This record gives sequence, structure tokens and C-alpha cells, in this order.
Amino acid sequence: MYLTKEEEGMLQGEAGEIYSRLFRLLVRLGEIYGAEKMISVGSVQVAGVSYKSIGEPGTAFLEDIAAQQAKAKVLTFLNPAGMDLENYKALGFPESFAKNQLRIIHAFKQMGIIITSTCTPYLAGNLPRFREHIAWSESSAVSFANSVIGARTNREGGPSALAASLCGRTPEYGLHIWENRQPTIQVDVQTTLETTSDYGALGYYVGKQVKNKIPYFTGITDANTDHLKALGAAMAASGAVALYHIEELTPEADLVSASDLETISVEPIHLKETYTKLTQGDEPDIVILGCPHASLREIAELAKKVDGKTLKKPVWICTSRMMKEAADRMGFTDIITKAGGQIVSDTCMVVSPIEDMGFTQTGVNSGKAANYMPGFCKQKVIFADIDTLLSEVS
Ligand code: F3S
Repeated sequence: MYLTKEEEGMLQGEAGEIYSRLFRLLVRLGEIYGAEKMISVGSVQVAGVSYKSIGEPGTAFLEDIAAQQAKAKVLTFLNPAGMDLENYKALGFPESFAKNQLRIIHAFKQMGIIITSTCTPYLAGNLPRFREHIAWSESSAVSFANSVIGARTNREGGPSALAASLCGRTPEYGLHIWENRQPTIQVDVQTTLETTSDYGALGYYVGKQVKNKIPYFTGITDANTDHLKALGAAMAASGAVALYHIEELTPEADLVSASDLETISVEPIHLKETYTKLTQGDEPDIVILGCPHASLREIAELAKKVDGKTLKKPVWICTSRMMKEAADRMGFTDIITKAGGQIVSDTCMVVSPIEDMGFTQTGVNSGKAANYMPGFCKQKVIFADIDTLLSEVS
């Protein structure tokens, strides 16, 4: 692989042993995937933040890097942590877990990484531009950045994203290259999509069918960005879709070549079967919304729905700290809290230890959460739209 003089120096340890170690990881990755050179990245999003996911070995790895004074070279955000970093006591997160989670956060902070734990960095101050090269990790954020914004990123693992942050580079391969962003299958949607959970169900179904192909959707006419984040998240979870295009809707759809593709269609029955398949529970102990992390519009919608009501069971909506602060200012937090709900920041239902908090059945409106919660959180899931979920706990 061609390396500039500066990159060669970094590899040889001129900037310090830690940078040499991390840059070697990027070079090896580039060699595996046939990259010809390194490219600069505009921003990074690092996964592997929850103590539940990385445990003691991962925590020690991060503390070691931080102790060697390694610093982020570009704007870097974090994926959700295992708990609300400010309100964890009131929400009942176990003290021993909190102690270890805070060690991880401290290590990232020492590296100069912004302590913003979210899978929607694009809503919280880390917004790449069209065609900007970035190195993001979390699969729904990767899908949104590639598909809805038209930025360019592979799905990075935790260590490769961290290396990209600290070295400011990533190897040029995969979705960084225009030829690799062409659609490989057409998906003709022949069903109406009304709620965010409908988009999650569509994403789950299509992800299962297309696996890691690049879908080109036709028949979706009026999706907003919340719908698109739900669609992309579910497709990345049930398949491995990191990029999709939607005719007349996403920015690269007019630029790619979408003729003569194998075509599959999605009928109403497929969505109906997906709702059934993703529901194993009968009555939720808790409803958790905000996967991917809720936008302000989604928080406002929830506030409107629960205004003046009394919820009989816990209802959480997960979001970034930035959205929570805006919700505080707008009075949405007050309304939701008075009804008995919570706006939970910095974490989500999948990476927090909710199975240790007495919950066994969780209601979700996210295809991605419904996909992961049985395995990761030992939950029986009730997958439905918000109105149906709220009617079960009001
Ligand atoms: Fe985000 Fe957690 Fe869902 S990281 S996409 S809220 S599983």
C-alpha cells in the first residue's frame, strides 16, 4: 500500500509507540481488503463503549491507550454506553456496573473524544457532508451516513474506528470507493408504510432477504428521516446492509446505475408476518422507544401522546444527551416524566443491562431492537407501533 512520508513515519513510531501500534492495525486492514492508500477522515464514531459489551479486557485496553497520552485527531463521538451517564442511580442501574462504565468514559475523555454516547451522532453535532470520508462504527449510523447523507464509511469495528480517530486516517476500500456504492438488488415496495415500526418491519424483512447486498428501493414515496433511520437500522441488524438507495429520495439514487437488477417485491403479507415473527411476548413489563436514538420530533410525539395520562408501567425513550437537553428546554421531559415515563440518555435498551433490572418482556417499535433483545438482553419482545404499545401500559 502506498503511504505518504508522514504515514510512513507514523508506522515507524516517529509519533510514538502507541500511534505506530494503531496505525499498523489500519495498514493490516487495508492490506486484507486490497486498499491502495490511506485517506483522511472527517469524523469518527467509536463503538464498544458499554461495559456490558467490552467487559474487563476491553476496558483495560482503552485505559492502556489513554495512559499513553494518545489523542483524537478528528471530531470523534461515542456509541451508546451501558447506562445514562448522569441519571443512572435514579434509573436503578447497578452500582458495580456504573463504576466500570465510568472507567471507560474516563479513558475516552482522556483521549480527547467527545463524551456524546449516541448512535445518531448526525443529530447531535457530528454531521458529515455529502461524499465526506468518515470512519463510523455503529451499524445504523453507518447506514444513515452512507444512504441518507451520502457520506462514505465502511462499518468499522471498535478498534479500527479508535485507530482512525487517533491517526486521522482509514484505508481506502469498500464503500469509500464510488464503484462499490452501486446497487446490487432492486426492492419494489408494494405496501403502504404508515408508522416508524412499519419501516422497521420493512427493514427487518429486506435485510433477511438481501443480506449484505446494496438495495435500490422503489415504491417508497414519503419517508422522513426518522423513518429512514428505522429502516436502515433494521436492515443492518437482520442483514448486513450498510448502504441503500431510494428512488427520488436519497442523494445518490439519481447518480448510481440501477438498471437490469434482480428484483424482489415486498407485499403487505410480508410486513404482517414480520410483526408476528418479532413478537414472542404477550404483555410488556416496560416499553422502550428510541432505537436508533430518538430525534426531537420523536420525543415531541411521545410527549403529545402521554400528556395528562398516567402510565402504569415504565416507558423509556432513549436519546442523545443533546436531544434530552433540548427536550428539557421545550418542556417535553416534564410532560413525559409526569406521566411516569423517562427520557434516558447516553444508552439504549440493547447495550444496557436491563435483564439485571427485573424486566423480562419489553415492548419496542424498532425492528433492530426486536432483532437483538431476545439474544442480548434475554427479553421476550412485543414489536408494535407506539400507539399499540402505549395502550398496553396506559
Ligand atoms: Fe442505537 Fe442501541 Fe438501537 S445503539 S441503533 S439504540 S440497539
